[in-house]
Amino acid sequence: MAISQLAKSVQPSPTLKMNETAALMKERGLAVIHLGSGEPKTKTPIDAILSASAKLVSADIKYTPTDGIPALKKAVIRYTEENYGKVAGPENVIVSTGAKQSLYTLLLAIVNPQDEVIFPAPYWVSYPEMIKMVYGVPVAVAAEDGRFHPRIKDIEAAVSSYTKAIIINSPNNPSGAVYSEEFIAQIVEFCEKKNFYLVMDDIYHKLVFDGKSPISCYKYAKDTTDNSKLILVNGVSKLYSMTGFRIGWTIANTKLVEAMINVQAQTISCPSAVLQSAAVGALNGIQSGVESLRLTLQNNRDVLVGELRTLEGVRVIKPEGTFYCLADFRAYDKDSQKLAKFLLDKALVVTVPGKEFGAEGHLRLSFCGTIKDITEGVSRIKWALDPNSPKEIYIGDRKYVRDWR
Ligand SMILES: Cc1ncc(COP(=O)(O)O)c(C=O)c1O
Repeated sequence: MAISQLAKSVQPSPTLKMNETAALMKERGLAVIHLGSGEPKTKTPIDAILSASAKLVSADIKYTPTDGIPALKKAVIRYTEENYGKVAGPENVIVSTGAKQSLYTLLLAIVNPQDEVIFPAPYWVSYPEMIKMVYGVPVAVAAEDGRFHPRIKDIEAAVSSYTKAIIINSPNNPSGAVYSEEFIAQIVEFCEKKNFYLVMDDIYHKLVFDGKSPISCYKYAKDTTDNSKLILVNGVSKLYSMTGFRIGWTIANTKLVEAMINVQAQTISCPSAVLQSAAVGALNGIQSGVESLRLTLQNNRDVLVGELRTLEGVRVIKPEGTFYCLADFRAYDKDSQKLAKFLLDKALVVTVPGKEFGAEGHLRLSFCGTIKDITEGVSRIKWALDPNSPKEIYIGDRKYVRDWR
């Protein structure tokens, strides 16, 4: 079959691949524990449901403006002002089908073939693939061993005459690192000086722990005109537990938003009218769910880190935000794909190999599930990896025998 060179070069999403395998195993009645998930377990906020239901009941569900319904743009503008101190106009906002599509539309609008886009490692798996899909060149900047915080000097060293943009994701998927205020200030200043686009992927921005506050990139922007190349990507997926609603948005200068509208008009026409109504409900409704999710996640983080630290040789940096922990398992296996497969086969625990995030030898473990899953999941990992573990365990009603070293 004739498949394009481009499509052939795109890697499958490792998280989705793991989900499929785990779902098949569950169908076979196996008691799989999912520590690979990228979405909180909490229910959709009631205000989102009511708002979407009202739209459905109206039976008047049509195309919307390409850049989003006015009510959602208004809610996004208010949200951005309240949380970032940034006053944006409707001409600076475009709503898309999830933050992922916001990023892809944005890349289509700014990247020419061979343009380089820089991002620190470890990074979200989709950045390199999306950049390749717009014929750009991904440039990952490796972190110092044992650290997840990028250094401005390493990013500066990765710059070339082809550099077009830098993507920063903090709080970070997969490491859970929250980049320092100093780094955010430096990167904003650097991009302004060099006239690079700076894309802030803030999808986890309020999910920060230990009394930390989310940092607003706008605080450090000297250019407050409509020529600014500072771009903010955000959405309802993670904070509001609305991954299935697929609503995200971009805040950018008017010219860029216009270009993105053209791209979006020729690809998806507009995001779904019903789902945009749901997002209006979430943003304008009661906000306590976000804080209670944050507190639950902080507690889950503490439990996961405590459990992982009982595993000899595993190095764990305490996540400062998100719901991911990227633990260093090199003491057991340097090949993270092999290790993740082994843990799924032998201990029925889903993890995500760090290789896909630019962190070979690590596994990404999510703590957005239940405490029971976290403790049981880690104890199974321990059983599979520790040669001194008992020979047999029961998982569900099945006996598993440890016949490896
Ligand atoms: C860093 C990062 N950016 C963007 C997204 C995409 O979010 P959405 O579900 O809104 O497309 C994700 C989802 O996992 C993510 O981890």
